[in-house]
Amino acid sequence: MRFLCALIFALLFLTGQAATTQAAETAGASKVLLLQKHVGKGLNCNGCHQENPPAKPVAMEKCLSCHGPYDKLADKTDGKGAHNPHSSHQGDLSCDSCHHVHKTSENYCSQCHQFEFDVP
Ligand code: HEC
Ligand code: HEC
Ligand code: HEC
Ligand code: HEC
Repeated sequence: MRFLCALIFALLFLTGQAATTQAAETAGASKVLLLQKHVGKGLNCNGCHQENPPAKPVAMEKCLSCHGPYDKLADKTDGKGAHNPHSSHQGDLSCDSCHHVHKTSENYCSQCHQFEFDVP
């Protein structure tokens, strides 16, 4: 009897966990971080960080050294969505207003606007 109870308990626990994982995935919590995307392209910590081991955030100039200049970046995302995240009345925003490397990115514009951006 005790064994049966333990078994039922274990089953309930496992199905509960599966449901939680699924909910987290649909909420976008399992989104691949920019860190993994860069490491996947062969970029190591020093590809972004100057000091070893890394101790400071990375300046926008470093991002632009590979992805810039800003207007070229804006050309790439022109017409992809309803609005261009890299060209707006907010000017040349710092990358980390939206993109984070070690944690999930965010949509800076959503402070004031309703439109959705799927920020990588
Ligand atoms: C694509 C560029 C990039 C790569 C590659 C990268 N980082 Fe970072 N790192 C950042 C940025 C940007 C920040 C600022 C926080 C953020 O955006 O997540 C940061 C923050 C950090 C911090 C916190 C610094 C502070 O402010 O206290 C540490 C520690 C760190 N990174 C370690 C690493 C290690 C270790 C690796 C290699 C596994 C690595 N980073 C690879 C861009 C990068
Ligand atoms: C040494 C060059 C280099 C640096 C520095 C660098 N990146 Fe990248 N980044 C890459 C490469 C390579 C890729 C993958 C190929 C591509 O999509 O262009 C990439 C991809 C990306 C993507 C697209 C991911 C996707 O889903 O397609 C974003 C966004 C991005 N980087 C942002 C940043 C930000 C923000 C920084 C500064 C914190 C940064 N990168 C620094 C080389 C770099
Ligand atoms: C206002 C938010 C925001 C800011 C600020 C921002 N980005 Fe983005 N970025 C986005 C969004 C949203 C996308 C996805 C666009 C799409 O695919 O429709 C994107 C896409 C990208 C891509 C992939 C482009 C491609 O080839 O499709 C790169 C690389 C990138 N950003 C780099 C940067 C860098 C570097 C900076 C700083 C100089 C920056 N971004 C600033 C929101 C932002
Ligand atoms: C601090 C608040 C604020 C932020 C943050 C903000 N906006 Fe706006 N935006 C406004 C206001 C206010 C207007 C003018 C009122 C209007 O026309 O809706 C406007 C107007 C616009 C318009 C023209 C009107 C329209 O809806 O077509 C666009 C496009 C736009 N913003 C895009 C962006 C983008 C992209 C970002 C992020 C990079 C952003 N905004 C961030 C406040 C903001």
